Parts: sequence; C-alpha cells; structure tokens
Amino acid sequence: MSDKQSFSVNKLEQTEGRVSWQSPSNIAMIKYWGKKPVQIPMNPSLSFVLDKSIVEITMTYTVSSENRFSLTGFTLNGSKNDAFSLRIEKYLVSLFSYFPFLEYTHIGIESTSTFPHSAGIASSAAAFSALALCLCDIEAGLAGKEPSGDAFFKKASYIARLGSGSASRSVYDGMVVWGNTPLVAGSSDDYAVRLADDEVHPIFTGICDSILIADSRKKAVSSSEGHALMHRHPFKEERIRQVSDNMKNILATLKAGDFDYFGEIVENEALTLHSLMMSSRPGYILMHPNTIIMLEKIRRFREETGTPAYFTLDAGPNIHLIYPLSVKAKMQAFLNDEMTVLCENGQRIDDKAGKGPMKTA
Ligand code: DP6
Repeated sequence: MSDKQSFSVNKLEQTEGRVSWQSPSNIAMIKYWGKKPVQIPMNPSLSFVLDKSIVEITMTYTVSSENRFSLTGFTLNGSKNDAFSLRIEKYLVSLFSYFPFLEYTHIGIESTSTFPHSAGIASSAAAFSALALCLCDIEAGLAGKEPSGDAFFKKASYIARLGSGSASRSVYDGMVVWGNTPLVAGSSDDYAVRLADDEVHPIFTGICDSILIADSRKKAVSSSEGHALMHRHPFKEERIRQVSDNMKNILATLKAGDFDYFGEIVENEALTLHSLMMSSRPGYILMHPNTIIMLEKIRRFREETGTPAYFTLDAGPNIHLIYPLSVKAKMQAFLNDEMTVLCENGQRIDDKAGKGPMKTA
C-alpha cells in the first residue's frame, strides 16, 4: 500500500456529507502481544468478530481547499470525552499521508457503543475499525467509487491497525489473521486477512462467546504498557516460537473441526498471555479472584459433562467462554446456575461470531 497518494487541492470543490459504519469488537484465539513501531505485531494472531459488541461511528465532513483540518466535535454515547477526543485527533492528524483530503477537512464524530455501560470490555478495536471504515468511505465517495471491494477493506484494516493493532482484525467476518505467517497465504503485518471458508470446518459456524464480567473497573496496566513490556521480556523468543506452533495447530484444527483440540490451544494462549504479564518486569496480575474461580468451574464442568466449552481472556479479568452453537442450550443452564452469580452485578453477555462491519449511512 503506497503511503503518499497524488492529490490536487486545486481540484477540490467544497464537498460535504455524512457517513456511518457499525463495526464489531473481536476476540482473539491466538493473541497479539508485543509490537514494534509502527503497530507491527511481534507475532501473528487469529480472532473472530462478535455480533453484539458493536461501535457505530457517524462522521460528518466538509472538505474544501479553504479548510485546514479540524475535529469540530466528538461525542461518545452522547457525551463529550476529552481524553478519547485527543487520541482520535492525534490519530487523524497522523493519517494525512494516507488520506490527503483529510488535511483540508472539518470532521465531526459521534460514537455510540452497544456494549453495556461499563462492562469492562475494550471497545478500541470496534471504534478504530469503524473510524477507519468511515475515512475509507469518505475517500471512496470523493473519488466517485463504491465503499466496497477487496482494496477498500484492505485499506480499512491497514488504517484501523494504526489506531489499535487488534482493530485491524475487526473489518472481516469469519476467522481472521493479522501478522505475517508463512502458514497463511497473503497474510501481512500491515493488515488482516480472512481465512477462506473452506479452511474453516462447519463446527465453527455460529461459534458462541459468553462474556463473563468479573470486574469492570479500569485496568491497572493498559494493553499498550503490556505490549511495551514484551520488548525485554525474558521469555520473548520462546513466546514467538510457541505462537508459531499454536498457529500451525489451530489452523489445522480449524480445518479438521476438532473443537476440543481448538479449545486446548485457545486456553493455552489465554494462560500464556497472563503468564507473560506476571513474568514481565515489573510483573502484574489482571485477573480478579472470581476470574480464577470461574476458570476452575469451567474446567470441572467440562471434565464432568464432556461439554466442549473453553475459556479465553483478553488483557483483563473478564472471561470469554467459547463453545459451539450445538451445545448452546446445555451451556445456558451452566451459565445461569454457576457463572452469573460470580459476575460483577450479574453482568454476562451471550454473544457469538458476527457478520462483520456494516455501512449504516
Ligand atoms: C490481549 O490491540 O488493544 O487483546 O495495538 O496497543 O491498541 P494496541 O493494543 P490492543 O491489544 C490487544 C491485545 C489482546 C490480544 C489480541 O486482541 O490479540
């Protein structure tokens, strides 16, 4: 993807408009942990997007050769949010070379999220992918093109990555890989790619993710700080080797349809992620006591009933319980009887693999 694009300000007549995109959050089965500038992952990762955990961004814009870039307004769920607004402004300014029109644009942004209020779920993947899709949409409109097609989504993934690494994986449905690996043709550190449908067994269609909120408070150590601690992590090289094995095996089992082997790899990745945090210098723990209690109960339930339900964790205390659609009814009883009581204020979101982003205006 070329950084600079030819762009003539003289040709620019005043154009205004409004675009909206909904984009989902995603949950990683193989974890991205550690990066180099600029947002280049230390290792490849694999995830799928969720269905209910969505951010919708509406962008209003006026482009004119008379204008100089400004963010004219930013609201998050109807309220001003200065911290996030500054991050977005910095992000937009950093994108001038990818979207030359942006330097001459006044932009207003409204962001709404469907995540339950303070559920402690990171919304940055959904937010940055929605922002990237809106920018690519405006660019397509100015060029008289449709906001669709392979090149459109590839650029959206690239631009989303620059805002938040995991956001690169939110622009596609299905199983998505971000990070260069010889195991996936066309994979790249710059943007995510979707695995072909015939690489994924039907047992994974409609895969479920019940999100169990153990603690919704702000994390003591952010993901960015965690990624930075990987630079001089004593187990860095071993982690890179382990990911390559886990990626090879998960790709094979995604194709073969062995859900139990898939789940074993998924749990190994989650526990490794948290072990890497604990063994960083300084080390830290993001799990809540109820996280551990729930993990033990999930493993016991699986052993006793043979139900293929496996946990994963992001960089936080909340559990994503992953299971095939075929056992959904059986899982409801376990979740209602044993898990909800351990969730903060009973907060649990029964989500599943979603259809990917959608243009709404
Ligand atoms: C543990 O994408 O939030 O969720 O690139 O600094 O924005 P930045 O980090 P972020 O890291 C997510 C890490 C993870 C694993 C994953 O989603 O792969």
